[in-house]
Amino acid sequence: MAGLPRKTGGILKTTWMMFDKAYWESRYKERAMGWDIGNISTPIKTYIDQLSDKAQKILVPGAGHGYEAMYLHNSGFLETYVVDIASLPLQHIREECPDFPKDHLLETDFFELEEGGFDLILEQTFFCALHPSQRSDYAKKMFDILKPGGILAGLFFNFPLTSSGPPFGGSLEEYQKLFEKKFRIHTLEPAYNSIPPRQGKELFFIFEK
Ligand SMILES: C[S@@+](CC[C@H](N)C(=O)[O-])C[C@H]1O[C@@H](n2cnc3c(N)ncnc32)[C@H](O)[C@@H]1O
Repeated sequence: MAGLPRKTGGILKTTWMMFDKAYWESRYKERAMGWDIGNISTPIKTYIDQLSDKAQKILVPGAGHGYEAMYLHNSGFLETYVVDIASLPLQHIREECPDFPKDHLLETDFFELEEGGFDLILEQTFFCALHPSQRSDYAKKMFDILKPGGILAGLFFNFPLTSSGPPFGGSLEEYQKLFEKKFRIHTLEPAYNSIPPRQGKELFFIFEK
């Protein structure tokens, strides 16, 4: 069945193709959304609250129910965009935040996104939702859609990467190796203000193109 891990010779084998649009739509339909904390996360809110340039063009990739994107919009960051491969979470944002510009809600695969020129991209539980084989493509795509000097910031999980996921884990060393070729790493450290269930499991980062 689409999206379910396959067992081969006792070893759990997954490929990125299993975590496709149908997989994510079904997670929302079945309300199997363990990642959804129902609100903006503290580290991302704290980061947004110190931003001053309200005209900057911001992307929230794999935004899900869009708490961060709606918070940005309601705080006056009117150039906020969302991309998600699934339609149900975008429908949720339309209902919860009717003012959110419809043409900023992009229902497409992040890797096929045509919109670009972002000043800031905010990451939260999107990277970990992707198959690990897509990580270098993620770094490349982020680089391509940011303006020169643009910022990729947010949270990565720091628990061991195994064959089971999503969420797929990773380590500070792995993230550093993946991004240092294309980005200047300003911050990559344990988050001090994670929500209680994620305490000790998140790294906060700020990378500059
Ligand atoms: C684990 S959820 C996280 C949602 C949200 N960031 C949050 O923290 O609540 C991952 C999200 O990424 C979306 N997604 C997965 N693969 C995607 C892709 N290739 N392009 C765009 N969105 C994708 C899923 O539909 C889902 O909404």
